[in-house]
Amino acid sequence: MKTTLSFSMPAELETESLVAITLDHAEKDHTADSPKADSAKKEKPQLKLATGDAAVQSVAADLLASGELTGKPFEINLLHKPAGLKAKRLLLIGGGTAKKFTSYDLRRLAGASVRTLKSRGIRSFAFIAPPIIPAEEAVRAIVEGALVGNFDPDYYRSDRKDQKIDVLTILASGNTDHAALEKAAHEAQVIGESQNFTRDLVNEPSNRMTPTILADRAKKMSQEVGLKCEVYGADKIKELKMGAFWSVAQGSDEPPALIVMTYEPAGAPAKPVLGLVGKGVTFDTGGISIKPADGMEKMKYDMAGGATMIGAMRAIALLKPKVKVIGIVCATENMPSGKAQKPGDVQIAMSGKSIEIINTDAEGRLVLADGLFYARQLGCTHLVDAATLTGAVVVALGYANAGIFANDDDMYERFHKANGEAGEKMWRLPLDDEYKENIKSTIADIVNSGGRWGGAINAAMFLKEFAEDTPWIHLDIAGTAWTEDQKPWIAKGPSGIALRSLVEFVKGFAS
Ligand code: BES
Ligand code: MN
Ligand code: ZN
Repeated sequence: MKTTLSFSMPAELETESLVAITLDHAEKDHTADSPKADSAKKEKPQLKLATGDAAVQSVAADLLASGELTGKPFEINLLHKPAGLKAKRLLLIGGGTAKKFTSYDLRRLAGASVRTLKSRGIRSFAFIAPPIIPAEEAVRAIVEGALVGNFDPDYYRSDRKDQKIDVLTILASGNTDHAALEKAAHEAQVIGESQNFTRDLVNEPSNRMTPTILADRAKKMSQEVGLKCEVYGADKIKELKMGAFWSVAQGSDEPPALIVMTYEPAGAPAKPVLGLVGKGVTFDTGGISIKPADGMEKMKYDMAGGATMIGAMRAIALLKPKVKVIGIVCATENMPSGKAQKPGDVQIAMSGKSIEIINTDAEGRLVLADGLFYARQLGCTHLVDAATLTGAVVVALGYANAGIFANDDDMYERFHKANGEAGEKMWRLPLDDEYKENIKSTIADIVNSGGRWGGAINAAMFLKEFAEDTPWIHLDIAGTAWTEDQKPWIAKGPSGIALRSLVEFVKGFAS
């Protein structure tokens, strides 16, 4: 999808379809105190188009005044041959209450517009940036949201329609800093494309996305964008004494891959060095502590954290912030076999810590333990990991928020700010010392599974042992890396969560 900016009047633009947002400006009824009175007196929606163009407003005026529309988010109306406009169509899309409207909503409306129009075979359209969102923020949200909406995971279906939007025009007010908007659009394009690159990797099933293939994709991408990329196999993993990572890999016939991508821009200071560490389990059967068959097919997306780091490195290499970044992905399958590790085994991690394996299905923390420690050995001063780590985080937060953990409040604040700018939702969970009890072992330093209660926290406490005193963020994306049901703004399937926040976070360190 190509993106262009236009500063002309929306009514003057020739396009397959204009898209304008309807917002409800009704004041809330504060006089009613009983629910009954509330519904009786409830004010009708006061719908207005979010545009300064009088010609566009006038085409929609009768419909908006008709009382036929609810004004609810994602309500769609498509007018053909709108009188007085050069556009062939005018798509009205509901944005909900004007007072609550943010760029978070705007991102989703852009995605929903793309999905509505492309399903009708339309390949280009123009989106009117709503004046109530600051222009740069709006451009960014529209481009990113549109790219997210343009993705469909139907690659292997013979009946796929290959419907895509090819050209998006954003109509911005002429009264803005054009160069700044062009820059925002370009950055958003890189980020949205990188997010879709990640989603492509996550979508692949495990027979087509082995650790070796994931490493090849990382290498190819790195070559294209000018990153250094090294891939190490079993020998190097054993030589580095990555006993935790290897304990998972040893059970599989597929060789593991340790992927290291390095971004070192000229003129970047020696410090900080940011380390992005991803869980790249290309299939998680559970190992000897095998998972039930029901839903096991989903475990092809257990490499989403790793794919997110590969996509983030792509965006970083293209956007060129002046800060050093190292991306590390620990890629392996988790299989049961005669060579697989067993419950009760003791493994020695690269850091020297001994780990009693209670459950071979708690494998993500094992591969990350060595990934995090290795990142510190390579000189990383700040760490972020992303992993589909626990079912427990889904119990705690559902599908709407990823779990975020931090051993450092400043790191958390930085990441939280990045979440806001990137339009991604994450919720902080605690890492108090009390939870350390849960990962104590009688025969080793720690266990790999701390029991059922607070499972997401126990997993994070385990990782904290390997981040030690390095400022560190852990993202548990088990509930958010895969969209369970199709939404108006995004297809069912891989979401690409966390990539946008990661890139924003990294940019925040650039001098
Ligand atoms: N890959 C899973 C976590 C997961 C669950 C990802 C659901 C996506 C959706 C992870 O390796 C796992 O199996 N975790 C166990 C840990 C337990 C054995 C301590 C879990 O969450 O049940
Ligand atoms: Mn597992
Ligand atoms: Zn797993």
